[in-house]
Amino acid sequence: MELMPRITRAQSMDVLSSQANLAGYQAVIEAAVVFDRAMPMMMTAAGTVPAGRVFVMGAGVAGLQAIATARRLGAVVSATDVRPAAKEQVASLGAKFIAVEDDEFKAAETSGGYAKEMSDEYKAKQAELVAAHIAKQDIIITTALIPGRPAPRLVTRQMLSAMKLGSVAVDLAVERGGNIEGVEADKIANVEGVSVVGYLNLPGRIAASASLLYAKNLLTFFQTLVDKESGEININRDDELIAATLLTHEGAVVHPKFGGAAAGERPDGF
Ligand code: NAI
Repeated sequence: MELMPRITRAQSMDVLSSQANLAGYQAVIEAAVVFDRAMPMMMTAAGTVPAGRVFVMGAGVAGLQAIATARRLGAVVSATDVRPAAKEQVASLGAKFIAVEDDEFKAAETSGGYAKEMSDEYKAKQAELVAAHIAKQDIIITTALIPGRPAPRLVTRQMLSAMKLGSVAVDLAVERGGNIEGVEADKIANVEGVSVVGYLNLPGRIAASASLLYAKNLLTFFQTLVDKESGEININRDDELIAATLLTHEGAVVHPKFGGAAAGERPDGF
C-alpha cells in the first residue's frame, strides 16, 4: 500500500496520507499531555496563562494537520518547510511561515510534490534562522522527510538547550533517523531539559480512527482488482495502480524497484 502512486485517482487509497494526517493530529495531543502548561491563553481573576507557542517543521500532510490541531487548541503556531507550495497552505491555516526563501527554496519541490535534499549552504542558513526562532517556542513538532533518504537533521542539542525548561518536542521522523538530535525511539528522552517524544507508530495511538481510514484505503484498492460485471478477480498489470504496487506474480518478483521486470519488458508480455 505504501507504493500506491499519489495521483488523484488513488487519493482514497493513499495510506501514507490517511495515516500521516492522524499522526500529525496525535503528535500535538501527545505534546499537550507532556507539556506542563495550558495551550490556550486564559485570562482569569487569578492571573493570565500565556498561549503556548508551537513550531511545526515540515508542512506536508502530517505537519498541516499538526498546525490545524495546535490552532484548535489555541496555541500560537508557526511552521517551516523547504517547498514553496507549503507557504500558502501554512498561511491558510492561520500559522506564520518561517523559511529561508532564496533561489534554492524556489526550486525545492520535485514534480511529484516532494522535497529535495537541500545543499549544505541552505541547511546552514536554515539552521541559523530556525535556531533563533526555536529559542522562543514551547513545543516543536518535526515531520520532515525526503523520499529515499534519511530524515534531515533539523534540531540540534544546542538549539534545544536555548529553549525554556519544560519545553516539549515531538519527532515524527524518528523511524527514519529523526529530525531532532538525541531523540530515542519509543521513549520520551530528556535532552538539554526538553522532553523529546520519539513515539513510534503514532496513528496506532488512535487505533480505531487509523483502522477506519486504512480499511477504506484497502477497500477502494481491492475494488479496482475485481471485474465489476463478473465479480471475478482481474489483475490488469497495465493499470498504473497495479503496476506500481504489485510485488510478486506467479512465483516471481515482478516489481522493478525490487529487481523484477516491469510489464511490457517480459517476453510473455505479462
Ligand atoms: P513527506 O512526509 O515526504 O515530508 C513531510 C514534509 O517535510 C514535506 O512537506 C517536505 O517538504 C518537508 N521537508 C523535507 N525536508 C525538509 C527540511 N529540510 N526542512 C523543512 N521541511 C522539510 O511529505 P508528505 O506529507 O507525504 O507530502 C508532501 C506533499 O505531497 C503534500 O504536501 C502534498 O502537496 C503532496 N501530496 C499530494 C498528494 C496527491 O494525491 N496529489 C497526496 C499526498 C501528498
